[in-house]
Amino acid sequence: MTEHVTIIESVKLDDANDAITLLDQTQLPNKKEYLQLQTVDDVWDAIYELKVRGAPAIGIAAAYGIYIVTKKSQAADYDAFYQEFQQAKEKLASSRPTAVNLFWALDRMEKKLEEVKGMSIDQIKQALKEEADLIKKEDQEVCEAIGRHALTLLEPEAGILTHCNAGTIATAKYGTALAPLYLGQEQGYNFKVYADETRPLLQGARLTAWELDQAGIDVTLICDNMASIVMSQGKVQAVLVGCDRVAANGDAANKIGTSGVAILAKHYGIPFYVCAPMSTIDLQTKTGADIEIELRPEEEIKTKWYSEPMAPEGVKTYNPAFDVTDHSLITAIITERGIVKPSYEENLAQLFED
Ligand code: MRU
Repeated sequence: MTEHVTIIESVKLDDANDAITLLDQTQLPNKKEYLQLQTVDDVWDAIYELKVRGAPAIGIAAAYGIYIVTKKSQAADYDAFYQEFQQAKEKLASSRPTAVNLFWALDRMEKKLEEVKGMSIDQIKQALKEEADLIKKEDQEVCEAIGRHALTLLEPEAGILTHCNAGTIATAKYGTALAPLYLGQEQGYNFKVYADETRPLLQGARLTAWELDQAGIDVTLICDNMASIVMSQGKVQAVLVGCDRVAANGDAANKIGTSGVAILAKHYGIPFYVCAPMSTIDLQTKTGADIEIELRPEEEIKTKWYSEPMAPEGVKTYNPAFDVTDHSLITAIITERGIVKPSYEENLAQLFED
């Protein structure tokens, strides 16, 4: 992909300062503020608080996180270094449960550590840096490939609805669900994008609308409960979403509200596409029912965006951060290796064998 569109990098290694430079996504769209993360607690907090969010970006932050933390290790031998690595890994793995990329990236870093057993501690640290760099570089290539495959499914001038933010700031670059929109922009597709605001944390309003607007893509912000009317009015020809974990049977966890959008799309006969890097496909998880859904604090619903509370103080809340879209509602899953259609059980497994 060329660089005609504004692409923002959200996670960068600042090796000279043993830090990660992170775009604080909680401050968008009002402030473009960068944080310096230096400790395991800084990285944990950034993930938990959604300063970095989006499955691939969480994985990249965790990989760099474990590198910068263990880089400062004074361990004299492999076993002591390995123990420090494990402590950091355990801590980071406890930050958010649903996006499998977090665990995938940490496992990949651990595998690298095991591979380089026998080298000096300095060489081990260098190998961990290179692995984290590779995770980021590969994610960029993956996003480009997803964009190319997804674009083949879309017509010029199409109306596209998206939920949450699966864009450049949620990945190394380009995004997953938004990658074909950037590519289409370069090729004159002139898409009309509808961005669901995505309650309660407003990733659609704060991030997707901002990101696409910055890139000069035609984007219209709607509240979540307006998806049905725009679909019924013929304004939407395809739905594109990202995901946090795809189970072996094709059930896909993504931001809360995604499954409702899929049900609406089915009702109106609109194709519903899930964009999923291979790192988000988890064949160890059999079905969506086996995916742990993160529950988040009630203040996100009751007070977060308001100058005064918008619910009675004592009222109970339920705040699941994700839901699972049943595989029967998904028209295709778009990966870097190509477009996967049902039956997902067979075709996803096949993808890992190719
Ligand atoms: O809670 P978030 O903002 O991390 O949720 C993000 C999503 O649900 C994204 O759609 C998903 O991680 C894919 S990002 C390419």
